[in-house]
Amino acid sequence: MTRRYRAPGRVNLIGEHTDYNDGFVLPVAIDRHTTVTAQLRGDRLVVASSDGYDRPVSIDLSDPGPPAGAWSDYVRGVVAVLERSGQALHGADLVIASDVPAGAGLSSSAALEVAAGYALLHLSGRAIDRTALALACQQAEHEYAGTRCGVMDQFIACHGRAGHAMLLDTRTLEAVWLPMPRDIQIVVCNTMTRHALASDGYNERRADCEAAVRALAVRLPRIRALRDVSYADLEANGDVLPDGIYRRCRHVVTENARTLSAADALRDGDIARFGVLMGASHASLRDDYEVSTDELDTLVEVAMEVDGTIGARMTGGGFGGCTVNLVRAEAVEAFAAHVRVRYHARTGQIPEVYICAAADGVHEDAAEEAR
Ligand code: GLA
Repeated sequence: MTRRYRAPGRVNLIGEHTDYNDGFVLPVAIDRHTTVTAQLRGDRLVVASSDGYDRPVSIDLSDPGPPAGAWSDYVRGVVAVLERSGQALHGADLVIASDVPAGAGLSSSAALEVAAGYALLHLSGRAIDRTALALACQQAEHEYAGTRCGVMDQFIACHGRAGHAMLLDTRTLEAVWLPMPRDIQIVVCNTMTRHALASDGYNERRADCEAAVRALAVRLPRIRALRDVSYADLEANGDVLPDGIYRRCRHVVTENARTLSAADALRDGDIARFGVLMGASHASLRDDYEVSTDELDTLVEVAMEVDGTIGARMTGGGFGGCTVNLVRAEAVEAFAAHVRVRYHARTGQIPEVYICAAADGVHEDAAEEAR
């Protein structure tokens, strides 16, 4: 019997570059998915094919092998990590399709990892612990894609809830789901640009943060991560850090505070305050963390020209990719039209605009199951 599984992409509303610092994030899963149509095989092979690429790839469960520099590494990585953890998976054919734009910072890779992992565990009759699956997929990304990512993307792909954003404490992995206001639309705008060295830039930022913790720990021995550093601590001890690294820390410390304030604003129904915090997050990512680009800054600027835009900021790792915008529902059409015209006039590129709803995490697609 064929079964079908779907895992969502994500957009992060606020809390950027905080997850690998044990901090707070506030993403939503979006209604764009990677779908895996799966069927058990009688052997120990996972044979994966993707709609965008013609040749199926065979992965031996007993010996998944090293990364091959292909899209299938995401599947290979998940297979390797799950097998190593003793899951004893069954062989399967996996046909993969996706409408999560690739390379746009909407976590198409996490959606693929989580969809493939969930499909293989479910087909093999294993109990599925969604948090353990998220952690396995994060590990796969480290080992097979070479990005030392935090856990946000895989966690929201596993734990997203329709209509809700998720406040996650990435140290304790405690999550709280907060309803999104019904009259507000999440709109994602794609700069259509991506820097080739985005993964290097990401790993460099993470290394900067780790170096900062080592330097600050000389004065603040109780700290384990930038999560433990208050703004007052940073002000008082910032002299041990080179200027560039100090600014990286200032971003992380203030972004954690902004994320908690944004969650409070959502709880209080104070969406205007949420928008102000998004703007401050963007400025901090641009000026202190230095992961924005001219295109991202332009897209934020033109978005803020529209009456009905509540907030706009870059989202995800940066170095290209997308912005996230909160827009009053009645203004969405005008927003999309304005952004297209103005971004094109300023950059010569036509942005893609995705109107998104907050969606559920990975699940078996009931429609297919019933067939
Ligand atoms: C990427 C990573 C996440 C997170 C963001 C930045 O999406 O995969 O873990 O670090 O960048 O917030």
